[in-house]
This record gives sequence, structure tokens and C-alpha cells, in this order.
Amino acid sequence: MSYTRKEISIEKIHQQEEICAKIKETLCADGKKPLALVDTYGCQQNEADSEKLRGYLSLMGCDFTDDEFKADIIIVNTCAVREHAEMRVLGNVGSLNHTKKNKPGQIVSVCGCMVQQEHMADKVKKSYPVVDLVFGPHELWRFPELLLQHIESNKRVFSRCDSDGVIAEGIPRKRDGKVKAWLSIMNGCNNFCSYCIVPYTRGRERSRRPEDVVAEARELVNAGYKDITLLGQNVNSYGRDLDCGVDFADLIRMINDIPGDFLIRFMTSHPKDATEKLFKTMAECEKCAHQLHLPVQSGNDHILKVMNRCYDSAKYISQVELARSYMPDLVLTTDIIVGFPGETDQEFEDTIKLCEKVRYDAMFTFIYSKRQGTPAASMPDPYTREDKQKHFDRLNQVANRISAEKHKEYEGGTFRVLVDGETGKDEYNLSSRTNGGRLVHLHGDKSLIGQFINVKITGSNTWALYGEIENG
Ligand code: 5AD
Ligand code: SF4
Repeated sequence: MSYTRKEISIEKIHQQEEICAKIKETLCADGKKPLALVDTYGCQQNEADSEKLRGYLSLMGCDFTDDEFKADIIIVNTCAVREHAEMRVLGNVGSLNHTKKNKPGQIVSVCGCMVQQEHMADKVKKSYPVVDLVFGPHELWRFPELLLQHIESNKRVFSRCDSDGVIAEGIPRKRDGKVKAWLSIMNGCNNFCSYCIVPYTRGRERSRRPEDVVAEARELVNAGYKDITLLGQNVNSYGRDLDCGVDFADLIRMINDIPGDFLIRFMTSHPKDATEKLFKTMAECEKCAHQLHLPVQSGNDHILKVMNRCYDSAKYISQVELARSYMPDLVLTTDIIVGFPGETDQEFEDTIKLCEKVRYDAMFTFIYSKRQGTPAASMPDPYTREDKQKHFDRLNQVANRISAEKHKEYEGGTFRVLVDGETGKDEYNLSSRTNGGRLVHLHGDKSLIGQFINVKITGSNTWALYGEIENG
């Protein structure tokens, strides 16, 4: 699918950085550092985008806070995938009326996928006067300019451009952690699954150039990051739009070649585009985690067809078998939607059957949410919320049982894990991840954070493993 690739020049990013310096002069005029809060909803791409917003805010001289009553600048980075997320955003934005009353001059900004939809941008404009600045995902690169426009005019600024192919390199970034990092390799989606809003909000699929991705991965490794997750709506189609002869498997190999002890993970993979070459590459590259998030969405062939997923259950299962033949220890996770318009009991049973056959390590389950403007929104949907809830609860029971059973199989074994943080609890004070990404709670000194260690698994439940550090 063609799109108009719009590369933002590095000069333009430098101009934005100069605007940050100008804003800093205004905001820090009284000698105090302004406080900023970035509240992120939705997927990891949004987390990665918020790191860029924080990068700009840092250049504006801001420190960060979690307290909306203290913040001088609030940015709500929104998601549009399900109605529930939108409702939460609107509820929280509405409550900022109180904070702004307490703190006149507080700047409230809403960005991200939710406000890329015209009807939602209009709703914010009409019903949420507390909001000063609105911009969509294609304009994140020029957030400083838009903020300055608001500061100088003291007027509300609404900017929602409909570009389908913005690529901006070189935006400064303030990353959240020191151990795990997100690395966005592409943006947008071309698949138009019939229920999904993402292709409308994030535009067409466009890949960053391999040299830019590899350079960023190298920076991350040099900065000490040990766990790098490559992000894209469908990483398996990486490079198709570039014509540079590098596909996703090649990209993994290029990153694997960077010297250092670190792990490469990635998400999300569309089953229709996962290739044998990818599985082979994952198996051969010693830094690539044996972990695959392969959303199936449904186990019924008719539902898959009306979802426009471009595979059937047999094809999906053969992909799983192929991946497992290369990586017998593969950790496999998925997304499933229940209650797609018209989904019958029988069709739902096919999803249960598929889950029992595949036996996922973890499943992310969702009740279908109608998204205005998508094809599924105009499909007949005769089943009630209660019908859907019943299916949802049943699916979760199956998912939880299988996860617990799979976790049980770890008990007694020794695994190499990466310690990634503290839990805040006394007994199991550290959290870590196996190569396949399973969560392991441990007891140990916090100086272990950022290190790979061997752990003997002593207990487990649906959600996590529990282990003891092995000496030597
Ligand atoms: N309703 C419910 N779930 C959805 N997802 C995407 N769109 C919808 C929707 N309209 C789910 C899919 C996708 C995950 C990120 O969110 O399962 O893989
Ligand atoms: Fe949405 Fe489908 Fe694209 Fe995923 S692949 S972002 S579900 S349209």
C-alpha cells in the first residue's frame, strides 16, 4: 500500500530544540524549574512516544512529577483502541478542572491516537475547556512549536494533521528505565483488521531506516541497557516500504551483531507475515529472546475472515508449529477478542479449542469495542454485553489455568534471568524476566538490578514465577 513518506529533516528537529530553549526562558523566568507530568495510555508505542515528549520537556527545563496538582504542564498521551481507554482519558481530563482551579496557568495538553479521530478532537474542543493544546501522533515532533503557539497567544491550539507517513529522526528522548528500553522500528499499520482503529490514527506502515535503528540500538547497548524491545504494529512487514533489501529477520541479525550482553525482544507480529526465515533467525541469534507475541484474535475461520486477518486457524497453528520446531522453548503469547459482531457460541468454542491446542504462556483478552469509522462498527451485533461477558470470563479461566500449568513446569529448573527492578515488597523484593519474558520474583540485593543471574524456580502461579538466586 502506498503512502507519502514525509521525512522530517534534522534541521527541523533542531529548530524544535531551539524553541524548547526559548520556552525554558519563559517558564524558568522566576528561577524555579517547572514541573511536568506525562500520563500515558495504551500500547508500548505510546510509551516510546511519551519518552520523546519528556525529552522535549527536559530541554524546556522541566523536572517531572506524578502529582497533577503540582504539575505546571500536563500531557495526556491517549489511546483509541478500545472505548474503555477513551472513557478513562476523558474522566481524567475532566478531573483536571480541579487541579487547574488550584493552579491557574497550568497547561493541559492531550495528544495521541484518541484525538487523531476528528469526532474525539471535536468532543475535547467542545466539552473540555480545560484543555489548552491538542495534537495527533503525526505532529508529536513539533510539540514545542505548538506549545509555544499556545503560550504566546494564550489561545487554545488544536492541531490534527492527516498525514499518513511522517518519520522523524533525532527527537531527544528521556527514557524511563536503565535496564529495559523500547526501540520503535516502524510506525503505522496497513492491515485494516475490520475492528481496529489504528490504521486510521497512526497512518500507513513506514519503516525507519535500518542504519538509524541499528545506531539507536548501539547507543542503548553502550548506555548499559540489557533488554531492547523492537516495536511496531506489525514488525514482520518491516522494510517492505524501504526497498533497501533489509527485512525484519535481517534487522534482528544486524542488532544481534552489536557487541555486548543484551536481549532483543519484539512486538507485535502479524501471523500472516511471520516467516520461516524469522523463526530461523530467532533461533540462530543468541541475543534474540525466544519469545513471540502472535495475536490470533479468534480461533474461528469465519470470524477471522470477517476480521480481515488474512489467515485461518490451520495456517495459524502451522505457524506456531514451525516456530516451535526452531525454538522448542519458545514463550508464546497472544491477543484475543471475544464478542466480535455476530460471534456465536459455536464460533467462540473454536477459540477455546485453539487455545487448548496452542497452550499460550499468557493471553491478553479483550471484549470487542465498537470503533467509529471501522468496517466492524456497521456489522450486525445481536449479542448482549452479558453474552459477551460470559464468554470473556470463560476464556480468562482457560487462559489462567493454562498459564498456571505452564508456569508449574518451570519449578525445580534453573533459568538465566535479567533482574530489572524492585517490587516494593519485603520477601520477594526484586523482579526479573526469563529469556522468554516470564516474570520471576526473587529476594536479593538491589545492586543486582541490570544483571543476568541464574535462578532456581521454587514456586509459581498464573501470573509469575518465584525463585532463589543460585550461587556461582
Ligand atoms: N475491540 C477490542 N479489542 C481490540 N483490539 C484492537 N481493536 C480492538 C477493538 N476494537 C485488540 C486486539 C489487538 C490489541 C492490541 O487490541 O486484540 O491485538
Ligand atoms: Fe490493528 Fe490489525 Fe494493524 Fe494490529 S494488525 S494495529 S489489530 S489493524
